[in-house]
Amino acid sequence: PPLNTLLNLDEIEAAAKPQVSKKCWAYYYSAADDLMSKSYNNAVYRKILLRPRVFVDCTQASTETTLLGHKVGTPLYVSPAAMARLAHPDGEAGIAKGISRFGAMQCVSNNASMTPEQIVADALPGQIFGWQLYVQNDRRKSEAMLARVGKLRDHFKYVCLTLDAPVPGKRELDEKSNFENVEVVESASNEKSDTEKRPGAGGVGQQLFWGTAADLTWHTTLPWLAKVTDLPIVLKGIQTHEDAYLAAQYARKHPGTVKAIILSNHGGRALDTAPPAIHTLLEIRKHCPEVFDSIEVWVDGGIKRGTDVVKALCLGAKAVGVGRAALWGLGAGGWKGVDRTFEILQGEIDTCLKLLGVKNVSELGPRHVNTRMVERD
Ligand code: FNR
Repeated sequence: PPLNTLLNLDEIEAAAKPQVSKKCWAYYYSAADDLMSKSYNNAVYRKILLRPRVFVDCTQASTETTLLGHKVGTPLYVSPAAMARLAHPDGEAGIAKGISRFGAMQCVSNNASMTPEQIVADALPGQIFGWQLYVQNDRRKSEAMLARVGKLRDHFKYVCLTLDAPVPGKRELDEKSNFENVEVVESASNEKSDTEKRPGAGGVGQQLFWGTAADLTWHTTLPWLAKVTDLPIVLKGIQTHEDAYLAAQYARKHPGTVKAIILSNHGGRALDTAPPAIHTLLEIRKHCPEVFDSIEVWVDGGIKRGTDVVKALCLGAKAVGVGRAALWGLGAGGWKGVDRTFEILQGEIDTCLKLLGVKNVSELGPRHVNTRMVERD
């Protein structure tokens, strides 16, 4: 179907499904165990009610905001997701092109299917990227990648360290697709040698995790990382108020290192029944609201509608990421499919702001939502 006839993210996903390989679909769609976290990530937004105000002039609404000190056109960003070329030859560079007119930020996966140089080659001036890191057992490999990304500093403005998946989750759909032909989509960026490739079966996920370190700690990994990059650090996969508090404390003690955390359960792909970002966000509000003063809090997981994005912003998120949505957009129509996906979401955010009676995302606050149904869970 023509892209402009697709009206929401479910329709984009449905349009992508017959266009991508079975293996690609299984890898992108899959989540851990029984897909409980994946489905709750989205369901939780439906339980939050909006509280619109009337008699407000809302002829104009702006989504502009500031992330890590950089001006962006929207708090909506692309979460790091491996292997965009599985869906379409436009790959990660296609995602960059698709989101460029919205001024959105893109975090590139450690296991991207294109090199960082290729991905930013045609980026607009001021288009902002992050580099997501899975620390490798051989730290020299991670250091080499960071040095490479450090040379592209017109575009790469932060390093995102993923913490919620020290080992891959049990993704049965992905495993069933029995990934054997990794050469076709070999990650150009992580430079794994043949001897490190996990032989034989296992899903794409397990194959990509081979060589990834599982021994990260606050006291060893962050000092190392701060030494080998001078880019700000964003910690991805925080799932409790306790860890959010530790991250904020670390940020206060070590200025110039950790600047943001991402509340995420990896799209439900790591530990099944781990909480959706909204729950962690509510925990932080209750137990340690001072976290919001020390570091930016971003969220991802389960975003299907502009109203979902706005609800997260109301509860204190500064940025909201989409993982699968960008990949399905790519599968549905290459870079133009990504453009259409963001056009839909940005349109929905705009409508939501106006109907809420808000002119700017910075005006959003907890008074705009009713979370009683979620707090009872
Ligand atoms: C991911 N995610 C992910 N995260 C990360 O830090 N590094 C990675 O390489 C990947 N790879 C990846 C591949 C695929 C196919 C998916 C779907 C996801 C997780 C991603 O960054 C994000 O947390 C979730 O995708 C957010 O949930 P939604 O938007 O997909 O529901």
